[in-house]
Amino acid sequence: MITPVNFDEYAPQVLKQLQREGAFLTVQSGDKLNTMTIGWGTIGYIWRLPVFTVLVRHNRYTHQLIQNADNFTVSVPLNKDLKSQLAFCGSKSGRDIDKFSACNISPQPAQITATPVIAECALHYECSIIYTQSMEQEYLNPEVLNSCYRQQPPLHTFYYGKIIASYLNG
Ligand SMILES: Cc1cc2nc3c(=O)[nH]c(=O)nc-3n(C[C@H](O)[C@H](O)[C@H](O)COP(=O)(O)O)c2cc1C
Repeated sequence: MITPVNFDEYAPQVLKQLQREGAFLTVQSGDKLNTMTIGWGTIGYIWRLPVFTVLVRHNRYTHQLIQNADNFTVSVPLNKDLKSQLAFCGSKSGRDIDKFSACNISPQPAQITATPVIAECALHYECSIIYTQSMEQEYLNPEVLNSCYRQQPPLHTFYYGKIIASYLNG
């Protein structure tokens, strides 16, 4: 059963989950579908719109897909333990493996976006990309550069997704 929720209703739970095991960022581009774990992201209000912002490093397969997509979904486990699936999707690349069959998670058609959501999760955000911004090193605080990028380049691209549907499933 789909139960719509306000875009900010579960923000504290989402931020907690992002900081712990992460959430699934799913992208469909043409006939290619992939999901990866994200730990960095925000739910906010920009341009008078509800916005979910995700950060994707330039070397991810997801980056390749999302550059050619105009939407994405974020699926968040609430009470269910999907720790091992999140660890898997956060360490293997969709370039090499079909993560859906490899870790037994299922794409479920979304309400609006072409990109599906992850059926095993309770909470979903469907997002339409309204702004894309690739980070530029010269504008980054040196301490953040040092702590987040010295050991592990490259930089991220920010994708600002207008939240067009947010709901509980199940
Ligand atoms: C808990 C966790 C959080 C992560 N957060 C992010 C993130 O916010 N952005 C990012 O680009 N990669 C993040 N990663 C790494 C990607 O999920 C990982 O590199 C993944 O294998 C990329 O998959 P892909 O090549 O199929 O896109 C995270 C990994 C873990 C385990």
